[in-house]
Amino acid sequence: MKILLASGEVHPYSKTGGLGDMVGALGKALAREGHQVGLITPLYAGIRERFPAIQPFDWVLNLPLGGRRVAGKVCTLEPVPGLTIYFIDQPEFYLRPGLYQNGGFDYHDNAERFIFLSKAVAHLARHLPWKPELVHVHDWQAALVPLLINHEKSSGGWTNPPRTCLTIHNLAYQGQFPVTKFPVTNLPWSYFKPEGAEFYGQLNCLKSGIFFADAVSTVSPRYAREVTTPELGCGLDGLLRRRQSQLSGILNGVDYDEWNTLNNPFLKHAYSVDNLSGKSANKAALQEELGLPANEKIPLFGSVNRLVDQKGVDIQLTALEEALGGEMQFILLGSGDPKYEQGYRDLAHRHPTKVAVRIGHDQGLSHRIEAGSNFFILPSRFEPCGLNQMYSLRYGTVPIVRATGGLNDTVIDLTENAASANGIKFTEFSPAALGKALRKALALYAEPELHRHYQRNGMTADFSWTRTAQVYADLYQKVLAG
Ligand code: ADP
Ligand code: GLC
Repeated sequence: MKILLASGEVHPYSKTGGLGDMVGALGKALAREGHQVGLITPLYAGIRERFPAIQPFDWVLNLPLGGRRVAGKVCTLEPVPGLTIYFIDQPEFYLRPGLYQNGGFDYHDNAERFIFLSKAVAHLARHLPWKPELVHVHDWQAALVPLLINHEKSSGGWTNPPRTCLTIHNLAYQGQFPVTKFPVTNLPWSYFKPEGAEFYGQLNCLKSGIFFADAVSTVSPRYAREVTTPELGCGLDGLLRRRQSQLSGILNGVDYDEWNTLNNPFLKHAYSVDNLSGKSANKAALQEELGLPANEKIPLFGSVNRLVDQKGVDIQLTALEEALGGEMQFILLGSGDPKYEQGYRDLAHRHPTKVAVRIGHDQGLSHRIEAGSNFFILPSRFEPCGLNQMYSLRYGTVPIVRATGGLNDTVIDLTENAASANGIKFTEFSPAALGKALRKALALYAEPELHRHYQRNGMTADFSWTRTAQVYADLYQKVLAG
């Protein structure tokens, strides 16, 4: 098949969270399966410098954006055979310190930046000489594409355009903008209605994608069910229920080329399920790196996260305060809401020999925390898929998760199946319930044999992309046949 993907972030070029990981890995996995794959994403600051093999592409963009026309260039990279990344080079929009915001504030022109991206996607989908059959867009940043394609089909003379899929990685981010931004799309006002791009008087990019895409998917089966409920539907559950027959949940895969413990440039010591001594050595190295007493006996809890409400930071801070009365250590890497960043700094200040906190984004340290910790804490309010718990499983680090979304689909608690148990789950969203789960972890750590059993189950679980890519290919086939 000839598939064009589009996303506001793609690892290893750009990333704020799992969206980048997922789309980067999906592109590679589809190409490996023999499909022809293009992937469109912005050329953000620093990408060209980090990837000198990026080539200019003989294509000039000059697209209407409201009352003006905006020019741009395209450049390309072929990281693996069969996959071409098309970077949209528009310095005014994309050469900025952050992807979507700076200093905690969204850029004032995010509507223009990502409507431009979506227009570039529709334009390339129409004019690339290899004629993609299917366009698969991800999250709100590219979610206007199905509508733009649909409009060109009905009134722009585009006969036989590609079919479209939208994957929702997180329904809480919808790309909502004031009505005054609608003209930036240059679409007729007839689309600005409840049966279209309008949502409570605003332009809603994700809603328009849910409405106009041929198929909609989310990143785990359970989240696909949860988004149709008022609790987790973020106001769009009604529309998602209406589209239920085109809605599916496909669990993300893990890029084991990168997330592995045997051949990993970020880890000092290699290890495997048959030889865990390297894991202990990584733990000692991590404790040393972050200035905590290096002691194998003390259970080490890790966390790498965007510090936002979704991730349950509030209950984590409260539960940790109590748990830190016992013998344990805790390491956090994250950034986000200033009040949560301060909360962790204060925690470290109060428990200097037990808690180490690094505020910022650090890929290498994220691997070292996954590898060096004994437990990984993920108490999310909701979690569309979650990748960290799958990384933890592969790294022999027992995940402690709230039973929601993809966390619930991937982690198995002792109470569900003792033979396959690989993590600790709790259900109620409260510090007390998380606190109880932390105590269970301490008890597990005191039982080395049972702990090994969890590690073995986790490290041998297989979330590889080969299977996931095949499920996407099946979905594309179905859409093309429909
Ligand atoms: P989400 O996409 O909601 O943030 P996921 O679990 O799907 O959650 O993906 C998070 C990804 O982002 C993981 O690869 C994780 O390691 C990475 N990540 C999050 N915060 C940081 C950070 N501060 N430094 C490095 N990597 C981070
Ligand atoms: C989103 C979700 C996360 C998911 C990731 C990749 O950021 O919050 O749960 O793993 O996308 O699909």
